[in-house]
Amino acid sequence: MLVDGVPTRTVWWAGDGVVGMINQPLLPHRFERVEMATWRHTASAIQTMVVRGAGAIGATGALGMAQAAVAADEAYFFEQVAEAANGLRATRPTAQNLFYGIDTVLKAIQGEGDHIGRAREAAVAAAVAVCDDDAECCRRIGELGAPLLKDRRRVNTHCNAGWLAFVDWGSALSPIYRAHRDGVGLFVYVDETRPRQQGSQLTAWELGQEGVPHAIIADNATGHYLKEGAIDIVIVGSDRIAANGDVANKIGTYTSALAARAAGVPFYVAAPTTTIAAHTASGADIPIEERDDDEVLYVWGWSDDGRFIRVRTAPAGSRAKNPAFDVTPAALISGIITEKRIIPASPAGIRSVAR
Ligand code: MRU
Repeated sequence: MLVDGVPTRTVWWAGDGVVGMINQPLLPHRFERVEMATWRHTASAIQTMVVRGAGAIGATGALGMAQAAVAADEAYFFEQVAEAANGLRATRPTAQNLFYGIDTVLKAIQGEGDHIGRAREAAVAAAVAVCDDDAECCRRIGELGAPLLKDRRRVNTHCNAGWLAFVDWGSALSPIYRAHRDGVGLFVYVDETRPRQQGSQLTAWELGQEGVPHAIIADNATGHYLKEGAIDIVIVGSDRIAANGDVANKIGTYTSALAARAAGVPFYVAAPTTTIAAHTASGADIPIEERDDDEVLYVWGWSDDGRFIRVRTAPAGSRAKNPAFDVTPAALISGIITEKRIIPASPAGIRSVAR
């Protein structure tokens, strides 16, 4: 997608064992690229959300594995690659794409037997392929989802399921970008998405870069606008889709789905099939990441004198609870837009597209 008119990806193989990425916590106020020299730096970038979003961390996990393969000692190659896989897996628990990215590169390495030189090359090629596949799946999601917006032009979305959350295009935002580029006049209600504000900081920035008309709304305004008839369709992304069609996504998604159902507004999920976890039977089996209290108790932002600072908004003695995701039951979902087709959120629908 375009940053100041220049085509840009979220994360990339920079060569010589280095992984490049956009430094997302600085957005929307500063656009910076950063480079990670080792798989441990890359793992830390995932954990601290320098890079975040299911597809983006899947691609980053794959690239981290390639870094490990390139750097591992010949004598301890398989031990060190296994250590990297475990370290990268431990960064964040919910997004299926992360495990998909790591396992895809591991399989490519294992496919070369004991030939270490070829295993290193296969790892890099597989990681780059994971990135390219993510971008292409998201582009297809845009093409398949855009027709839904022809007669439903006032769209609500939650969190950031745009190109920053993937390698390019995004999932929930891809149909919006496609339809907007095709001349459909859209308006997007962007949920702010407390506590990390992926909506106001990332989705709103992305939409602005593409020139899509939008307004940021507080999360607790979504139900109001749905009930008032101001929203024609809700499209969200997903971090993991279970075999029965239940969907894990950013905390607050379930509340939006309930409000959409009550208001009779269609509620769609957009995700590449790499988000499907065929071995996860239902939403009850999806691990929900619990993040630091501080994300709720403090906000980060830019001071007027140009410093990136943290400010406490809650009383000094208060603690917080901070689940990063929730599960929306399949019954509340109108359909799942994948790169293959739009499927019902049902076991048969999921089976028909699962990899
Ligand atoms: O915690 P994050 O920012 O990594 O959240 C993941 C997400 O980007 C969202 O849940 C999104 O809606 C899913 S689509 C990648």
